[in-house]
Amino acid sequence: MRMRIGVLASGSGTNLQALLDADLGPADIVSVVVNVEGAKALARAEAAGVPARLIRHRDFADRESFDAALVEALRAAGVDLVVLAGFMRILTPVVLDAFPGRIINVHPSLLPAFPGVDAQRQAFEAGVRITGCTVHVVDAGVDTGPILAQAAVPILETDTVVDLQRRVLAVEHQLLPAVVRAIADGRIFPADGRPRLRGPEPDPGAVLACPSLPEPTP
Ligand code: GAR
Repeated sequence: MRMRIGVLASGSGTNLQALLDADLGPADIVSVVVNVEGAKALARAEAAGVPARLIRHRDFADRESFDAALVEALRAAGVDLVVLAGFMRILTPVVLDAFPGRIINVHPSLLPAFPGVDAQRQAFEAGVRITGCTVHVVDAGVDTGPILAQAAVPILETDTVVDLQRRVLAVEHQLLPAVVRAIADGRIFPADGRPRLRGPEPDPGAVLACPSLPEPTP
């Protein structure tokens, strides 16, 4: 049985694009839902021939009714795993309970450091020398769920916030598809209390608890 992936996005959708371009093994992206009109993610899904819908959170009276519409769309597409790829809404139990342990998110910091919005700027302003990105299971908190994988990105002396955002994003584009693939292959079980990759450990110098990343393109 192939794993059916639903992706939720709010913005430019470059992580969605990375998923669309990747070899996800026994998994297919079967549905994309975007909550912001004009978000480039919608056009990316359409260009890839993936069924895509705009469900505007602004059209709903409260978070729960918006979330109920999300659940309806994801269930109608027969989704097994929900991937938040730059989805800027906090999910309520309406969605969390519909897909228990089966919603993952990519966040642009080494959680639990710098949760919430503008994580790269938070790291930059805190003066840390290493930040990165995290893929984690979504729970009821903000960026608090069990960590599946992380990749480190050094902050260089010459970096501006924009440079840092760009370099973190490039690593997200490798990490997120690698984690989705590992889940589809049965090498990570997101519903475990403390999920860990089964299989060979990656190079600890560059990557922390991360599924085997492809070599960066030169
Ligand atoms: C990414 O950096 C993602 O990690 C971040 O939004 C950006 C979306 O970019 N998500 C969050 O901050 C969620 N807390 P994209 O639309 O180009 O994929």
